[in-house]
Amino acid sequence: MPSLIVVNRSGEERMVEATSGLSIMEILRDNGFDELLALCGGCCSCATCHVYVDPKFPAAISAMSDDENDLLDSSDHRDSDSRLSCQIIMSAELDGMTIRIAPED
Ligand code: FES
Repeated sequence: MPSLIVVNRSGEERMVEATSGLSIMEILRDNGFDELLALCGGCCSCATCHVYVDPKFPAAISAMSDDENDLLDSSDHRDSDSRLSCQIIMSAELDGMTIRIAPED
């Protein structure tokens, strides 16, 4: 099974198994990262699932929609690696990717 390396807000790193077909948000939630609120449940309407993705994997990550881009603009912590984790679907191509949970807005 593919895996992700997750860095929480305290900087602690943990490798988790990541089922293909689930969103990164669902994988983080299922692995107990409750600092990621994901309040809208993955409907791309809250931005509380903000993460930073590993820039080594851009081609394997689905393109950003206008809605996701607009929501990320509302964050004070947006940078070039910012994504909403509910909008990225896990696949074998993302095996080994590092995900950092963004600070809370
Ligand atoms: S969970 Fe709300 S935008 Fe991702």
